[in-house]
Amino acid sequence: MLRTHLPLGGGFFDGYRVHLLSTRAQLAAWRGEQPERPLHFVPTMGALHQGHRSLLERAGRPRAAGTTPRVLLSIFVNPLQFGPGEDFSRYPRDLEADGALARAAGVAALFAPQQEEIYPGGEAALTRVIPPSSLTAVLCGRSRPGHFEAVATVVCRLLALVKPDRLLLGEKDWQQLVILRRVIADLGLPTSVEACGTVREHDGLACSSRHRYLSASERLQAGALPEALDAAEALYRAGTVEAEALRGIVRQRLNASGLALEAVDLVQPHSLAAKDRANRFSLLAVAAHCGSCRLIDHRFLMSRLPIVAIDGPAGAGKSTVTRAFARRLGLLYLDTGAMYRAVTWWVRQQGADPADPAAVAPLLDGLDLRLLGGAGVEQQVLLNGHDVTAAIRSPEVTALVSTVAAHACVRQALTAQQRAMGERGGLVAEGRDIGTAVFPDAECKVFLTATVAERARRRAFDLEQRGFPVPPHEELEASIAERDRLDSSRQEAPLLQAEDATELITDGLTIAEVIEALDGLFRQRVPEDAWRPQAATDEG
Ligand code: PAF
Repeated sequence: MLRTHLPLGGGFFDGYRVHLLSTRAQLAAWRGEQPERPLHFVPTMGALHQGHRSLLERAGRPRAAGTTPRVLLSIFVNPLQFGPGEDFSRYPRDLEADGALARAAGVAALFAPQQEEIYPGGEAALTRVIPPSSLTAVLCGRSRPGHFEAVATVVCRLLALVKPDRLLLGEKDWQQLVILRRVIADLGLPTSVEACGTVREHDGLACSSRHRYLSASERLQAGALPEALDAAEALYRAGTVEAEALRGIVRQRLNASGLALEAVDLVQPHSLAAKDRANRFSLLAVAAHCGSCRLIDHRFLMSRLPIVAIDGPAGAGKSTVTRAFARRLGLLYLDTGAMYRAVTWWVRQQGADPADPAAVAPLLDGLDLRLLGGAGVEQQVLLNGHDVTAAIRSPEVTALVSTVAAHACVRQALTAQQRAMGERGGLVAEGRDIGTAVFPDAECKVFLTATVAERARRRAFDLEQRGFPVPPHEELEASIAERDRLDSSRQEAPLLQAEDATELITDGLTIAEVIEALDGLFRQRVPEDAWRPQAATDEG
């Protein structure tokens, strides 16, 4: 129960600034006040800490559209998600301190309902949300049956009341995040999900409301949990990938520290399926007990830096957004289209027939093709010592590049070079077959497209800007449609959306909005806990 002396009617918390909303009616009235501003929502059970604060501050950041969102925080200790014998009755409740933190974090309103506001018909008659058991019955779900169903139920209920544009959740509760993302996607709920990396205390212990249960000596002891994960990560970096060995070192370290291990698992981060070996991308997840406090933590184990594969038809704006997105992430920009253009330029230069593979193949021998420029730097294309950066963008090269790029010899030569460039990861690559042929194991695959009409409009604008003659619109549309046909029907590596790619249609979106959308897709696949851009790591 909330403390009774707090105002139960709507009002301002702590005198001013944070609206305190206690009922659904107050929430609805507040919500309707500024419908033009995006509403970002952070659901919590209160007893706020620095992890919550970082979520709340993130929630308030202006996004692509430039408008500053309104942030709504909810505090509701959901009885459904506590099992028999769990800590529902003693779960820390401190609305005054929470209100102060909320205010400092720029929260616009705090929704702190009583139970009957959330479950008006009572618990027994409640409609419940049951996510797939492959996600709920594993990891923490083994020792907390019904917990994730209850979390999904209350979050859906809150989303129905709040109707936020965006829901912000912490990666600390990774399983909860995976489940809620799945529920929101499966039910088609109109809210996007943004996740925030785990915030840690001075000794690496992940912030948690339940740390209030720890005595001073237990708090010291709890630091052994992140240390055990550090040890497992070091073992992995030294080449050990067997699940048993990685779990073994965590077990051993926790035993030595006196923490009681509940479980340690190696799983695939998105499906949560158990793994025998930590190849490519894995999650090592631990639950342990320190006194009466249950602690959870995890490490993502990645064998290389992330790769983003952005495929799509010509003229969809891939180059502009991929370059900008690579800069935002601080990753290398690999413009494979520029490589095919460079070869096309060379074929023309040498006077060879671009349609004849037998004439093109010898020109590839010993070809010295380089893309210069590091992360965030404009790319320069050098071919056999010539700077062809500008020349490869001419309409003559544009007209021939599909023909040249369709030859098996060209694709094989350039695919091999691209794979070598991506061996250690750390790049954002764009092209036609990146997600299917070049980097089929890319963490994030996007098929960026736009209607033919929209692409013709953009092409006309681009030609005009660069001082080239602009053909009639119908002619541009026809040539774009023909290029799509050629790219999609060629034998070698046709333009194809990878099965695991997400289609992003850019009609009507600004560049900033496309980049924002790419960032959301990237973060669904590569959590901040697994990888953050260098600058962000330094800040954190
Ligand atoms: O993570 C939490 O605090 C809770 O599980 C949530 C999402 C607020 C649902 O009660």
